[in-house]
This record gives sequence, structure tokens and C-alpha cells, in this order.
Amino acid sequence: MSNVIIFGAGLYGHKYALDCLQKGDNILYFVDNDSAKHGTACTLEPAGGGAEMSFNILHPNALLKTEFDKVVVATHTGFNEVVAQLLEQGIAPHKIDRSYTEHNVWARKVFLQNFATLAKERNLEGNCAEVGVYRGDFARHINASFPEKILYLMDTFEGFAAIDLQNENKGAQNIGAGHFANTSVELVLSKMPHVQRCVVRKGWFPDTARGLEDERFCFVSLDTDLHDPILAGLEFFYPRLVNGGVILVDDYFSTGYVGVKQAVDCFAAKMRISVAPIGDNGGVILIKRG
Ligand SMILES: C[S@@+](CC[C@H](N)C(=O)[O-])C[C@H]1O[C@@H](n2cnc3c(N)ncnc32)[C@H](O)[C@@H]1O
Repeated sequence: MSNVIIFGAGLYGHKYALDCLQKGDNILYFVDNDSAKHGTACTLEPAGGGAEMSFNILHPNALLKTEFDKVVVATHTGFNEVVAQLLEQGIAPHKIDRSYTEHNVWARKVFLQNFATLAKERNLEGNCAEVGVYRGDFARHINASFPEKILYLMDTFEGFAAIDLQNENKGAQNIGAGHFANTSVELVLSKMPHVQRCVVRKGWFPDTARGLEDERFCFVSLDTDLHDPILAGLEFFYPRLVNGGVILVDDYFSTGYVGVKQAVDCFAAKMRISVAPIGDNGGVILIKRG
């Protein structure tokens, strides 16, 4: 039996923790970089019944004072930065279990690269956009995969907007406005391999789509976590996709951000289109009919 600490007390932290329990691991506690979660608890309902289990959520410094066998990196957003943070803290590399998340992040990147290859073969016109850029970790792969296309980088760069939380469930509302504010335009641009092709649209989406009504798109990533900007993104971008173009929506399978699936299903039903998972344990795509 391994003594395990889970890094990331969000959706994936819950999922991976349940897997650890099923494997017979002993979870010591969770750690998270979000100070709002420190001192609170993470509650798990083991698969197949059994009593609820509750685990403390602590500051990552707690790792330095604990004997453990592995720390499971259970956050997709900022995955590389969390691994770097652990190494900087002096955690031995063999104790950092990145396998769960690495597979998913890798699957998403390979999907994007394969789609870029097809788009080139088929001479798909139109540009790229991401709504929900945060620190630019997926956007840099979009920029690398489509070096000739403009990439619109759309984010408040100040985290969730209060107005978008009004229609969310308690869980998302508790996360609060301003979540994901620890970023900046400069940081994001510094990660872009073809920065001259990037156009920053800072502010609340859909306001930031104003002026792009005549633009056409080939690849769009919607990663805002919340129902309203996801629905607004589908409504704005789908009519402007070229035939064969794709919208990727992250977190469709999230059990925390349930508004994402609701928005996608509502839009897909209205437009009579299908969605398909991309194998990264989170996202689905919508393809524009030819
Ligand atoms: C999960 S993060 C995006 C992660 C990012 N795609 C990555 O690769 O790491 C969600 C982002 O959506 C942004 N966001 C949420 N609602 C928004 C809105 N209505 N307008 C603009 N940005 C929004 C937040 O500010 C946050 O940066």
C-alpha cells in the first residue's frame, strides 16, 4: 500500500483520488495552490458504495513535512508548472506521479496536431481562437500547430467574471469571481512560438468578439469552464467556422463544471449536430458540416 498525496483538489483530483482508493492506496491529504481551498476538506464517495471519506486540503509546503511514497499531479491546467514547482520544492522525481494527467494533456495535444495536419491537407481557410487562455498552456500548442493562421487569444486575464457565475451551481459559485486571475497578457505572449500571429482580445467574452463578425475560423478552443461563455462561444463561432472546421470544448465530462455539458448539449440539439469525445478525459469536438 502506497502513501499518496493528491496535488489538485478539483475535478481531476477527485477522479484520480477515487482511482487511488480503488487500487488500495492510502491517501494522506490533498494539496492545492489555491489558498481559498486551504483548511477545507475534499469529500469522496468510494465507487460501489462505502462510507464517505474526507481529506484535508493543505498548502503544498505540507509535502516537505510528510513521509509519503508519491504525489499524484491531478491538475490539467498548469500541469507543467506544477511539476516544475514540485521539483523546485526538492521532491524527488521518482515520487512525482504525472502519469494520469500526462496521458490526457498528451491526447489533447496530439488531437490538435492531427487536426492541423488534416486542415493543411484540405487547405482549410479561416483563423484560430481560444476563449479561456489562462496562462497560455494550450494556446501555445495552437499557435505552434497553425503557424500561418492568426490566433485570437481571448480571456479576461482577470479570472472568472461575477456575471457568469450567476447561473452556475453552488460548487462553481463557491470557486468565485477572479479565479484564474494569476496570469497576464505578457506571460501568455512570452510562451507563443509565433507571437506575431497572435491577437489579444482582453476582456469579457462575448464583448471581446465585437468586430470579428466577418472573420472565419478553422479551429476554436472554448475553455472557460462556465455555461454562459461556452454557450456564447458556440453561438458566435459555429456559424463562422469554415466547412470541416472544429470547435473543441474542454470540460464536457466535468462533474464539477456541469454547465459546460448543458451548454454544448443544448446548442448541439438546436443545431442538430453531434459531438464526439477526443480521448483526453475532458473534451468534445463539434465539426462544421461540409
Ligand atoms: C480553465 S482556464 C483556461 C485554461 C487554458 N485553456 C489552459 O490551456 O491552461 C479558464 C479561463 O477562462 C477564462 N474565462 C472564463 N469566463 C470568461 C469570459 N466570459 N470571458 C473571458 N474569459 C473567461 C478565465 O479567465 C480563465 O483564464
